[in-house]
Amino acid sequence: MILLQQIKPFAQGGNRLCFVHPEDANLCIKVRRPDFTLEDLRRKKGFPKNLRRLSAFDDNLEEYQVIHSLEKVCGDTIYRHIYRCYEFVETDFGPGLVTELIRDADGRVSVSLKQYLWAEGYHSACQQAVGELTHFWLAQAVPSRELLTHNIVVQLDDIGNIVRLVVVDGLGASTLIPFKWLPRMLQKRKIQAKIKRLNDRISDFLDHCAEGREPSRVGMLMHRDETAKEFISGSCQSKR
Ligand SMILES: Nc1ncnc2c1ncn2[C@@H]1O[C@H](COP(=O)(O)OP(=O)(O)OP(=O)(O)O)[C@@H](O)[C@H]1O
Ligand SMILES: [Mg+2]
Repeated sequence: MILLQQIKPFAQGGNRLCFVHPEDANLCIKVRRPDFTLEDLRRKKGFPKNLRRLSAFDDNLEEYQVIHSLEKVCGDTIYRHIYRCYEFVETDFGPGLVTELIRDADGRVSVSLKQYLWAEGYHSACQQAVGELTHFWLAQAVPSRELLTHNIVVQLDDIGNIVRLVVVDGLGASTLIPFKWLPRMLQKRKIQAKIKRLNDRISDFLDHCAEGREPSRVGMLMHRDETAKEFISGSCQSKR
């Protein structure tokens, strides 16, 4: 049993708490938020989605299944833009999904695209990185929900250049019909529409920033420097 309740998560979303794995600083453990359970999530969904079994709402399970089936079809190339997903472990918050933890070359946990845009703006290298990600999404027909800037992280090299964008949440079907059952043409059309909405969302966000409006805390890391210290001091030894 891995004890997480005594550790501060490095981030939290609407559904999950994210921890640096206490035994390996290159790994992340994601658990369900105890204050927003799967039952709460199902209750919040309207008809007919709320008729589905409880496990259908489990992001961890869906991510694990989608990533592994994508790997079977497309091989290791998917890991350029999707994080690696390992196994489930038992924690004091219930089952946790162990995944790759995306860090910059300086050891700090990579920030979300949302946080990056707020800090650095949408310069041409960042536009190019978004273009590379969306091209990949379409080419590989990745099944996902909306592409949201707080679910994409920006990994930087040692001089602050963007290495790659990595999606860390939102994989799986957005409708009741499994994505892989749809004809390829329809899959592509749906992905193109998602890409357009991502680009629109980025434009809207930049407009808000230009007006001097502070972004919401969603997808903003709180403990970036602390997690870097643990990493750099070598107190956690990498096993992978
Ligand atoms: N493996 C990772 N490496 C680096 N950062 C990560 C990783 N996983 C999550 N994060 C950060 O933690 C935040 C929350 O994680 P995640 O999106 O998985 O939570 P969630 O509750 O599923 O989110 P949502 O509210 O979108 O449902 C992300 O916005 C991202 O900034
Ligand atoms: Mg998220």
